[in-house]
Amino acid sequence: MWVVLGLQWGDEAKGKFVDYLAGGFDAVVRYQGGANAGHTVIYKGKKVPLHLIPSGIFHPGCTCVIGNGVVLDPEAFVKEIKMLEELGIETKGRVWISDRAHLTLPYHKRKDEEREERRKRKIGTTRRGIGPTYMDKYGRTGIRAGDLFYPEYVKERLSFNVENPDEVFEFILSYRDFLLPYITDAVELLHRFLEEGKRILFEGAQGTMLDVDFGTYPFVTSSNPTAGGVCTGTGIPPTAIEKVIGVAKAYTTRIGEGPLPTEFPPEFEERIREKGDEFGATTGRPRRCGWFDAFQVRYAVKINGVREMVLTKLDVLDGIEIIKIATGYRLDGVELSSFPSSPGTLERVEVIYEEIPGWEGSVKGIKRYEDLPHGAKRYIKRIEELVGARVKWISTGPEREEIIHV
Ligand code: IMP
Repeated sequence: MWVVLGLQWGDEAKGKFVDYLAGGFDAVVRYQGGANAGHTVIYKGKKVPLHLIPSGIFHPGCTCVIGNGVVLDPEAFVKEIKMLEELGIETKGRVWISDRAHLTLPYHKRKDEEREERRKRKIGTTRRGIGPTYMDKYGRTGIRAGDLFYPEYVKERLSFNVENPDEVFEFILSYRDFLLPYITDAVELLHRFLEEGKRILFEGAQGTMLDVDFGTYPFVTSSNPTAGGVCTGTGIPPTAIEKVIGVAKAYTTRIGEGPLPTEFPPEFEERIREKGDEFGATTGRPRRCGWFDAFQVRYAVKINGVREMVLTKLDVLDGIEIIKIATGYRLDGVELSSFPSSPGTLERVEVIYEEIPGWEGSVKGIKRYEDLPHGAKRYIKRIEELVGARVKWISTGPEREEIIHV
């Protein structure tokens, strides 16, 4: 059992890495988040954005499971299944939804919009209804995928929970027949795989800094993308997890509002955004960009128990003369010993940078560590020292093959 998760604010290019690994796994499982995620995978030369279905779908032998920790938007699910079938990918019997996963319904999306409009300081949510669905889950008023087997029960619950129960019931009924063949007891399924010695890969969405507990609250998502989320989001015990691989971009990006201490000045940010194609896969919004923050990634490495990591999009830093790495934060002249929890502190910190020379030429498409320019190797080594984890994979381009396994 391996876990692949994000060490920054999401968009670390996890989808590509999961797709790269998935060939060696029998199942890929999503454990949190919903259709707010955007994992882009290149399939037969085409960019395919996935929002709900695990990135293992492009490997025929791979079962894809949407765990109980995920919130499932029926409209987004049906759209994605249809898109995959148009690409010639069979999904029946390969894609499973946990009967314990909560449904994101139109009123959740409306509520997300309304709350976001009313907020004085916006979170910049994806407006996919994520927060309100989790609010209903924890408020014990949610509707779960497995409830679709009992329409009368759904009707009864809706009559208490929403203002327009008939309308919502009609909506749910209109998706029921499509969804039912995909719904299963995923705890049972995953434990059977476990007993049969099958290999399972857990795919995190978003990233550690968007975690509702450990991220830059309240500018976070409403789930736990961190390693603990795997257990609560699937029913797999912590003792079954062998390895947690953290994915970090060679620089930092963040979409939406909230602190980003190493953010670039506007002109340079524009240059990196264009070069790295840093626009949201779900909403198309421009991503904010900044230097690699080793102080922040070290915190994420600790929380997730990461020993091995993937460094992605290294090629975007080609040709930068002097590269900066954040090594710590200072508050009122005093260096902080741990990553602060308060956005108030994060907005006031002074970032401590180390400067290292970049490299000449391009790392684009390089597949062997030996072929990397000296400057790129020096950058990677320094990151390893500062964050306390080994860089085992380096991604040098968007294609599945553009990767170095050190
Ligand atoms: P929500 O998850 O839609 O509620 O949005 C909460 C915050 O998480 C916002 O800042 C979003 O931009 C951010 N976010 C949600 N999903 C992703 C993702 O997949 N990648 C990057 N940021 C995300």
